[in-house]
Amino acid sequence: MLRKLISHAKEYGFVFPSSEIYEGMAAVYDYGQNGVELKNNIKQYWWKSMTQFHDNIVGIDSSIFMHPKIWKASGHVDAFNDPLIDNRDSKKRYRADVLIEDYIAKIEDRINKEIARAEKRYGEAFDREEFVTTNQRVLDNQAKKEEINTRYSNMLAEDDLVGLKALIEELEIACPESGTRNWTEVRQFNLMFSTQMGALHDSEVYLRPETAQGIFVNYLNIQKSGRLQIPFGIAQIGKAFRNEIVARQFIFRMREFEQMEMQYFIRPGTEKEWFEYWKQERMKWHQSLGIEAEKFRFKDHEKLAHYADAATDIEFLFPFGFRELEGIHSRGDFDLKQHQEYTGKKIQYYDHELKENYIPYVVETSIGLDRMFLAIFANSYTEEKLEDGSERIVLRLPKMLAPYKAAIMPLVRKDGLPEIAREITERLRETHRVQYDEKDAIGRRYRRQDAIGTPYCITVDYDSKDDNCVTIRERDTMNQERVPIDKIEEYIKLK
Ligand code: GAP
Repeated sequence: MLRKLISHAKEYGFVFPSSEIYEGMAAVYDYGQNGVELKNNIKQYWWKSMTQFHDNIVGIDSSIFMHPKIWKASGHVDAFNDPLIDNRDSKKRYRADVLIEDYIAKIEDRINKEIARAEKRYGEAFDREEFVTTNQRVLDNQAKKEEINTRYSNMLAEDDLVGLKALIEELEIACPESGTRNWTEVRQFNLMFSTQMGALHDSEVYLRPETAQGIFVNYLNIQKSGRLQIPFGIAQIGKAFRNEIVARQFIFRMREFEQMEMQYFIRPGTEKEWFEYWKQERMKWHQSLGIEAEKFRFKDHEKLAHYADAATDIEFLFPFGFRELEGIHSRGDFDLKQHQEYTGKKIQYYDHELKENYIPYVVETSIGLDRMFLAIFANSYTEEKLEDGSERIVLRLPKMLAPYKAAIMPLVRKDGLPEIAREITERLRETHRVQYDEKDAIGRRYRRQDAIGTPYCITVDYDSKDDNCVTIRERDTMNQERVPIDKIEEYIKLK
């Protein structure tokens, strides 16, 4: 499935491998003419939900380069690491935790296959609940999975690198490339990219690995210039960079990606309540896009990042299984306190109600824009067999996110039909992103628009000259309706 998505994304101008004519670069991608529109629409949808629908959330756009001490204070220099292991034969490098996660995923696969086989065997009489709680093979695999999960989560939490190596050996995990188990020791690898700044290239700076620190170091500027009162939030969308070792699964894990983050500054002691509030709010946001609720789930973190006192992921059912789409973290006063300590500048808030100063606590929501793109793209991609036996690929994108809202098509390229279609296009352009499309037979044009997710195809035919109406075809149902030309805007807005 993922391979189909990647090739569809390329064929229809959504996502290309970066630097492709130079053989490409791992885990770096470019967004094409349709991809950039979909991506911008997702950004807009998030940005509005934060800054327009909340009185007390404002936005910023901070720089990618920041003072290098910020990353020392934030803990990224010392603790933003992945545990790595090399295979001596293939010379390939892996994340030790990912090797173990892949092993666990294989056990999950075995369980699912066992269930699918039984379902086929028993047909309608199949009781899933009873089967998974009584079948010995499922129970054994489930227990094994849980045991490994607990052990390796504890090892990660305790930075037990020796334990991780021992577990990889015990599970007899082999290098996918060489097939051997000739592993090096596990060691920590920092994920930040660094570069040199200044005429002499003499000062090392980092490319930010998260946008959040740009918010923290601007906390005082924003709170004071906006005279903001707690609770309030600061939102930001921007690039982040991580030297990811496991570069796969398309745009799921990239080395250059975009984050949409919001830091919500609150009174200490209220963090549990706000953490719960933002968990629910963010889940509602995802579901407002019309994606089935079963495709999302919460997963609480067992291993907390160095800054968090509680954390949960909103996971999405990607083509390769449930994976993290968004993180919601209760960061306490960790970041502001660190910046206060490292700068010697007071970063405090005077609470007029309590009549006291304190360092605000923070609940953060952090979503990867590219992952959201992949979630929507994967969820929208549908291969359909039609009644007449033909097939179509349709991208059932949420209508407000589609690159084009409508395509306007003259049935033929003569007899005054293009002129009418162009006039409609010019009028709709004022309020919607639309496309004039006159190439090829009408059926092929419909397929092309289906493949990029255009919700409406508006066809001007010979009758239009007499009745001043067009035919509007809806993408998902393929239903066609005759609509007066002066009612098109109303029609596509309502539908
Ligand atoms: N400020 C907190 C923070 O950065 P995170 O869990 O490391 O937390 C937040 O990242 C989100 O950023 C993730 O849920 C994911 O959607 C996205 N993300 C993280 N690393 C990514 C990568 N290498 N490629 C694409 N998206 C990534």
